Amino acid sequence: MNPLDRLVEQGEAMAAVPLGPMTTYKLGGSARWLAEVGDRDRMARVVPAWRDSGVPLLVLGRGSNLVVADGGFDGLVVRLVGEFTRIEHHDDRVSAGAAVPLPVLARSAVAAGRLGLEFMVGIPGSVGGAVRQNAGCHGSETVDRLERAVVVDFLTGAECVRGPSELELGYRHSSLASTDVVLEAEFTFVVGDPRSGESTMREITRWRRENQPGGTLNAGSVFKNPDGDSAGRIIDSLGLKGLAVGAASISTRHANFLVAAPGATAAEVRRLVCLIQTEVEARTGLRLEPEIQFVGNFEE
Ligand code: EPU
Repeated sequence: MNPLDRLVEQGEAMAAVPLGPMTTYKLGGSARWLAEVGDRDRMARVVPAWRDSGVPLLVLGRGSNLVVADGGFDGLVVRLVGEFTRIEHHDDRVSAGAAVPLPVLARSAVAAGRLGLEFMVGIPGSVGGAVRQNAGCHGSETVDRLERAVVVDFLTGAECVRGPSELELGYRHSSLASTDVVLEAEFTFVVGDPRSGESTMREITRWRRENQPGGTLNAGSVFKNPDGDSAGRIIDSLGLKGLAVGAASISTRHANFLVAAPGATAAEVRRLVCLIQTEVEARTGLRLEPEIQFVGNFEE
């Protein structure tokens, strides 16, 4: 018996769990297993079961940068809950569990008169995802404020603390392996007037409403920006806005957003991504690299 099935029997994991509802795209298939981990005790049981299972691991945050294959994910999905959703305001730092949504962290810090994390209000991901991808917007990145992250290595079960340089944070990049799971992170701040932070957050929210296709099913920027340029500008300049594969299309508002209409499939999103890469490369010589993550089997 697979050790993960034993976890299911013991009520510590679930089998055949649809992942679409846990992603911003709301599409794709199911996880073969899913474990919600709310504390270190549960983690200590899930880690060895996963290690002995021989299947791949996916840590799922807010699902805002993710396309799950229509056939699902044949492995274990871990979702952090419970103690990993806590925010603590200390005198010299703000600490947040990896499952905390970034907008919640931004608003909580501002309300406590701790400024510097306002940019996070515009990022629909989690603290763990922000560390993994060095998420950023409006001229700020996670690395600007990150002091350290607590990471558990699922291969060994060992926890360690890593600073920004060990994490090798770069543009939408870190050195974390898929088996490294961020548990919490600590951020620096500057003391300030909450009203100033609120005004910054309002401005970011207004900018996003005007420039990004809010209210649609999307996963934010699909491609990383090439050095010194913008993927959205390039795709737009080639007249590709509105291009569709099935029910997946390039947003008419921002060309680096791919929007899923009702009924869209993961295969359609993937085909559209490949089509854009091919078009852009043929016409500019540039190969755009996806920023979003595809999980599961996408071979047709
Ligand atoms: N542009 C166009 N046509 C378009 C879209 C953009 O001409 O369809 C032009 C804009 O006019 C602007 C330039 O391209 O001159 C850059 O566009 P924008 O300001 O929207 O920024 P971006 O480079 O597309 C980046 C991040 C976003 C982040 C914004 C704001 C990446 C891949 N994307 O977008 O992050 O919100 O800056 O800071 O780095 C994300 O990562 O998911 C994300 C949304």
